Amino acid sequence: MDKKTVFSAKAPASISNLGPGFDCLGLALHGWHDTVRVKLTDAPDYQVTFNPAGAWSGPTNPKANTASVSVMHVAEVSGYEGGAHIEIHKGIHAGSGLGSSAASAVAGALAMNLALGGRLAKHDLIDSCLAGESVVSGAKHGDNVIPSLMGGIVLVEPGNPLVFRRIAVPGNLHLAVILPSIEVLTHQARSILPHHVDLHVASVWASRLGQLVDAIHSEDVSRIGHLVMSDEIVEPIRATLLAPYHDIKMAALSGGAKGCALSGSGPAMFAVCDSAQIASDVATRMQLACSKHGIKSLIRSDSVNQTGATKTD
Ligand code: HSE
Repeated sequence: MDKKTVFSAKAPASISNLGPGFDCLGLALHGWHDTVRVKLTDAPDYQVTFNPAGAWSGPTNPKANTASVSVMHVAEVSGYEGGAHIEIHKGIHAGSGLGSSAASAVAGALAMNLALGGRLAKHDLIDSCLAGESVVSGAKHGDNVIPSLMGGIVLVEPGNPLVFRRIAVPGNLHLAVILPSIEVLTHQARSILPHHVDLHVASVWASRLGQLVDAIHSEDVSRIGHLVMSDEIVEPIRATLLAPYHDIKMAALSGGAKGCALSGSGPAMFAVCDSAQIASDVATRMQLACSKHGIKSLIRSDSVNQTGATKTD
């Protein structure tokens, strides 16, 4: 066991739900990532620190931290009985809707697996990542964890996240992403959702999800339209947590975006565009709409990260 080397991995931010794909559709981004560094120790306990240069610092109790829970899960699966020092560099702010807790969990699992000799394949780390992410989100849904780990656009079964498929990524799929400076905690944004859904609403929802997946799978961004990306079950309720939601969406659509939705539980939002130039223009429009509400924001034009989490130096 190498107890001298620091093993490091990074995992990207992700967008989940993609409109009508609540808990079952997600994609990885290039724009933001978390990095976790792991150094094995003789003492059988786990210590968590946050790199002060990061965007955020969270809990250092190893049982309450997504990265360390994930690291400890990999240790258990691997039969490792020592401990580790875990340093987290947050590039993704918590409560952003960009898969912050998933990215830390994924980077932690990958770094720990490297520290233990890299015996597990990425696929074998999914359970550990889900265990880590659920500490914060309160659920094992996989639509952030799996894209962040594996890269690409992923359709996942919420009840059994080990069942998932990567979908082909259209070459001209560009994304405008806005992160308003508001915090929305995932477990709160889940607690306000309905437990029961009207049958007609559910069938419209299922049709839109099918059309969206078909459009992506056919690599035809032109078939992704505002209606195809609409969700009438989850998003209208969550939109109440973000005052500029409707104005940001209108700004994106009038600027040429094919569709626009919350990223995960928000407050981040994203718009689907068919060129990098349009995505860049749309992101600027979204930021202007947000600023009219007196809310600052970060924007990016981005594309799908097909690689997912990787080892770093
Ligand atoms: N699918 C989850 C949700 C992701 O919408 O609650 C949380 O970011």
